[in-house]
Amino acid sequence: MTKYVINGANELNGEIEISGAKNAAVAIIPAALMVDGVCRIENLPDISDVKTLLNILKEMGARIKSVNKRTIDIDCSRVGTSHATFDMMRRIRASYYLIGALLSRFGRADVAMPGGCNFGGVRPIDQHIKGFTAMGANVHVRNGIVTAVTDEALSGTTIYLDVVSVGATINLMLGATLAKGMTVIENAAREPHIVDLANFLNSMGADVRGAGTSEIKVRGVRRLGGGFYSIIPDQIEAGTYMAAVAATGGRVIIKDIIPKHLDCISVKLREMGVTVVDLGDAIMVERKGPLTRTHVKTMPYPGFPTDMQPQISTVLCLADGTSIVTDSVWEDRFKYVDELAKMGSSIRVDGRTALIEGIPYFTGAPIKATDLRAGAALVIAGLAAKGRTVIENVHYIERGYEKMISKLNSLGADIKVAHYGREDSIFRRRIG
Ligand code: UD1
Repeated sequence: MTKYVINGANELNGEIEISGAKNAAVAIIPAALMVDGVCRIENLPDISDVKTLLNILKEMGARIKSVNKRTIDIDCSRVGTSHATFDMMRRIRASYYLIGALLSRFGRADVAMPGGCNFGGVRPIDQHIKGFTAMGANVHVRNGIVTAVTDEALSGTTIYLDVVSVGATINLMLGATLAKGMTVIENAAREPHIVDLANFLNSMGADVRGAGTSEIKVRGVRRLGGGFYSIIPDQIEAGTYMAAVAATGGRVIIKDIIPKHLDCISVKLREMGVTVVDLGDAIMVERKGPLTRTHVKTMPYPGFPTDMQPQISTVLCLADGTSIVTDSVWEDRFKYVDELAKMGSSIRVDGRTALIEGIPYFTGAPIKATDLRAGAALVIAGLAAKGRTVIENVHYIERGYEKMISKLNSLGADIKVAHYGREDSIFRRRIG
């Protein structure tokens, strides 16, 4: 168990590269279960969610070979089980994508209910179940295991999602890939990683059209063959570093990205007085003067991403005036606010809305990450804070950020990774 020890109030300056997108990787790895042959996946992020998913596939009989640090070959042709009920399934939200992939391949899936970040109470999967049922599956949940069975293959049909759900859109795309006939997903989510999954599936021989719009059409094919695919850059990782520069000041070039995916974030930072320049496959972020307040409402893509809500709220703590942040995607995604309060912030939360009164600076404190993106937000607060911040529960952060500490330190941050116990005494000595 580790902690991050941050000596704050250093500007960030320099250049960093962005890794492959976590949320694309965790959809594409289960999709490989449907491929009859070897698929090479490039630009995989080195994060714990990816490692857990690869271990799950290995347990099921997949052969996985590392080609280099970011590239693997996956061969699932020998996987002969529709059961994925291991304990490690509960560690990650994206394990539910195995339902769509296994149903598509075997006509049956027995999958442990997903875990992952626990914001917003129970994270429902009713839209996934509604879709699979409409495609002819019999789905029930018992003792934490989702069982979905079809007599033959799933059958294509039209499914209207009652809420715009990233997970349901992806899961139903997976289910539809090897189904009989055409599946139409209406009111589909449009996130960049949905387009990335469609591109992966199509490059393996699937017929998916319309990804990136609210109507996706999947014509079922008999088999997927092997091939190569490179995962897109991580929109949220890039956005997190943009927010970090906004909070600390400085000038950073964020490389290997798709600036279009960041428009929703760039617009808000510009409103706050931050300079953001599109350099084609990179973006320059610079903050010199004071930050200006603004209002943010999270929405499905292309709206402002809920996965950037904690980070932008943290930056807004340092803006002049009062800002309002509304999370219209997840309820109760403001648990981290209690931790920011220990650093001097002034935030009042009422349901899905936070009222943020700007403060001149954060002060370092011992705090705890409450989930992945909240953990990233606390790192941003620690970077901007006067004094020392010690963050516990950093395993949440390591689920989704590759080499966050070395990337930030290369920009001038002062973050050390400490083991439980030892830093406690250092911290007590310094403040005692
Ligand atoms: C994905 C992302 C997560 C992000 C979220 C919203 C992955 C692995 N995770 O999560 O980082 O925060 O999208 O951009 O890609 N809902 C239902 N019924 C359902 C499914 C969802 O009511 O069957 C509701 C949820 O409670 C939530 C909203 O729809 O309020 C959005 O959820 P969804 O888009 O499904 O999120 P995830 O796919 O779980």
